[in-house]
Amino acid sequence: MSTAAPKQARPHRGEELELTVESLAQGGRGVARRDDGFVVFVAGGLPGDRVRARVGKSKKGYAEASTIELIEASPDRIADTCVHDGEPCPGAPWQGLPYERQLELKAEQVDEALRRLGGLDGFETEEIVPAASEWRYRNKLEYSFGDADGELALGFHPRGDWRRVVDVDDCHLASERNNVARNEVREWARENGLPPHESTDGRGVLRHLVVREGIRTGQVQTRLVTAPAEFPRPPVDLHTIIDGPSGGTDGPTGVLGEEYLEEELAGLRFRISHPAFFQTNTVMAETLYGIAGVYAGLDGTQDVWDLYCGIGTIGLSLAGRAKSVWGMESVHEAIADAERNAIRNGINNSHFIAADARVGVRPLIEQAGNPDVVIIDPPRAGLSQKVVRRLIEAEAPRIVYVSCNPTTLAPNAAQLVEAGYVLKRIRPVDMFPQTPHVECVALLERAG
Ligand SMILES: C[S@@+](CC[C@H](N)C(=O)[O-])C[C@H]1O[C@@H](n2cnc3c(N)ncnc32)[C@H](O)[C@@H]1O
Repeated sequence: MSTAAPKQARPHRGEELELTVESLAQGGRGVARRDDGFVVFVAGGLPGDRVRARVGKSKKGYAEASTIELIEASPDRIADTCVHDGEPCPGAPWQGLPYERQLELKAEQVDEALRRLGGLDGFETEEIVPAASEWRYRNKLEYSFGDADGELALGFHPRGDWRRVVDVDDCHLASERNNVARNEVREWARENGLPPHESTDGRGVLRHLVVREGIRTGQVQTRLVTAPAEFPRPPVDLHTIIDGPSGGTDGPTGVLGEEYLEEELAGLRFRISHPAFFQTNTVMAETLYGIAGVYAGLDGTQDVWDLYCGIGTIGLSLAGRAKSVWGMESVHEAIADAERNAIRNGINNSHFIAADARVGVRPLIEQAGNPDVVIIDPPRAGLSQKVVRRLIEAEAPRIVYVSCNPTTLAPNAAQLVEAGYVLKRIRPVDMFPQTPHVECVALLERAG
């Protein structure tokens, strides 16, 4: 007679399950088990919640699901602050957790990623830096147009439902200025009777609105994204036209108002082009760069590389303490901004190169010589193994890794440790309260 455990039938896509969330996994999703023990990762569930969740991906060992109804809230939950039309704000999935608990979980996630995923030890995890503001910290928000009961809505897709849009009147992640700007554009669209674009059949006009803000300069920049169509001049700074099925916001863009946004950071003034990356929490970006500066340990004699430099914010904020700064970034508009930003702030020891880091590092060694310090700040996917190999070839005594994803930092750091670096310390920084996202800065030094 066979003693093998009965095979668990995986749930099928679209199936609805009633689950109790037990804990939170890396990245912040809830972990729950079906009665037979089958593991389901639940977006939108906090530990202790009883939820109804709809299954998305379903694999042999686990499934992924999105909460569609909170049947019984965990006794540890606090009341939601940001709610749109009765739906919890999809941009604030952790708002039910007290802020102190959010900080504990984020610090644990960083430390665990490096120890478990990276197999690293012997480093110090410094205390997480809490955010200066728990709400209204975002300087950029992207909204979608949709139809809500026959009326034009401008807001967010509820979690797990890309076809619906909930109208937003006051998002607590955005500043009051941002909320006013969004509501004005919706008013204009309603007055002109413009329909939302339907991704299903390609009909309609309005796709998205991006509102970006210079928190310190008081500037607000609006960018309307539409399908090609004739309509009265919109009250926005930029107008992007996307033909075809894209769900994104990038496309050919015309200027109707202010082309550039300006922001102040670390005592410098920065110009930001609309395709360029800029940290979405200005105040905490300054804190993050401050930690990167401490880890870089500059005394004016070092040649510093700033890889994945965006508009040059990190390198330029450290240029006064460096012999030279070399920034590299793949978005051309961002490099043009970085060059302008250097001139505007009277910085003359910086150089910026528009290049993909995968192919740009070797030529940079040829051009600039070996660096004393490399600062890297890649996107969430982290560095490819090839970029890490190129970085190792640069032989920098010190690498400061600014990461927005500890699960990609961990394997990158492990590869650097394998090549002779030592992970010294790491400091988590909370730039995104009410979400599971955590930023951190890690210091690696060459052994010997
Ligand atoms: C997390 S952002 C950091 C930007 C900047 N350090 C800051 O703090 O504002 C990552 C940047 O890497 C750039 N990037 C993405 N892939 C790249 C690549 N393969 N080579 C160079 N830059 C890249 C993006 O355009 C983006 O500006």
